[in-house]
Amino acid sequence: MNLQAEVTDLLPLAPAAHRGGDELARRMLETAVEYKELRMMYACAIKEVQTKFEVLNTEFSILYKRNPISSMHTRLKSSSSIIEKLHRKGIPFSLENLEEYIQDIAGIRIVCSYVDDIYTLAEAIVGQDDITLVEKKDYIANPKPNGYRSLHLIVSVPVFFSQQKMDMKVEVQIRTIAMDFWASLEHQIKYKKEIPDQENIVAKLKSCADDIARIDEEMMDIHRRLEATENQEKEEDSLLAMLRKLDMPIS
Ligand code: GTP
Ligand code: MG
Repeated sequence: MNLQAEVTDLLPLAPAAHRGGDELARRMLETAVEYKELRMMYACAIKEVQTKFEVLNTEFSILYKRNPISSMHTRLKSSSSIIEKLHRKGIPFSLENLEEYIQDIAGIRIVCSYVDDIYTLAEAIVGQDDITLVEKKDYIANPKPNGYRSLHLIVSVPVFFSQQKMDMKVEVQIRTIAMDFWASLEHQIKYKKEIPDQENIVAKLKSCADDIARIDEEMMDIHRRLEATENQEKEEDSLLAMLRKLDMPIS
């Protein structure tokens, strides 16, 4: 499919096609070549940040004998979602506006087992000297009213292309397996036009979010205790080994 056909195809797809949205899509089409190049740059920025997390995960597996990352998902925001967001925010389409106002074109979601790992990974990534923290939203310390919890970072990462270096923004969401489970179910509500007994479902979800927060804390507490026992066992083993050396026959 050629580029023009590809972008024209987006018109009926754009949820914002109702008044204004198709105008945004038409402007997107006018800059199709540059727009496609910008998407490529965001795709590369995702690769950079993904590699950083993979490196941290590998390093941790050697240092602490476990992987802090349970799973990782990346996504490049679809053109129809971009149009919808511009339309919702009342921002005219331009490549400059995309870069300035749409901070989640490149997205990466990191799912961890324990809450501690979320902050350890966030600190490690933000501390890297080629990474700039643009924005941080801690929905774990301050959950949304519906119960949503997750740590959101917008980071800027330099990407080296053949002719230029570009600082690209990437949205990083870090959450536990339980938070991710909750968010994927809650997400479905947004796409349902009519939800029977909506009030009850919303209240139930909020109560599940509270239970999940408590369970996440308890799981982390159990995990910490087990790790402390393991460390103590290791220390005892090495003391025993040293004692055995003292018992070695004297010739
Ligand atoms: P957006 O315009 O949606 O990007 O608003 P924002 O810039 O204030 O973003 P925020 O950091 O609050 O959320 C960005 C992303 O986090 C969303 O696109 C979702 O992927 C996720 N998210 C935020 N709030 C919720 C929520 O209540 N439920 C679920 N399931 N996901 C959420
Ligand atoms: Mg956002």
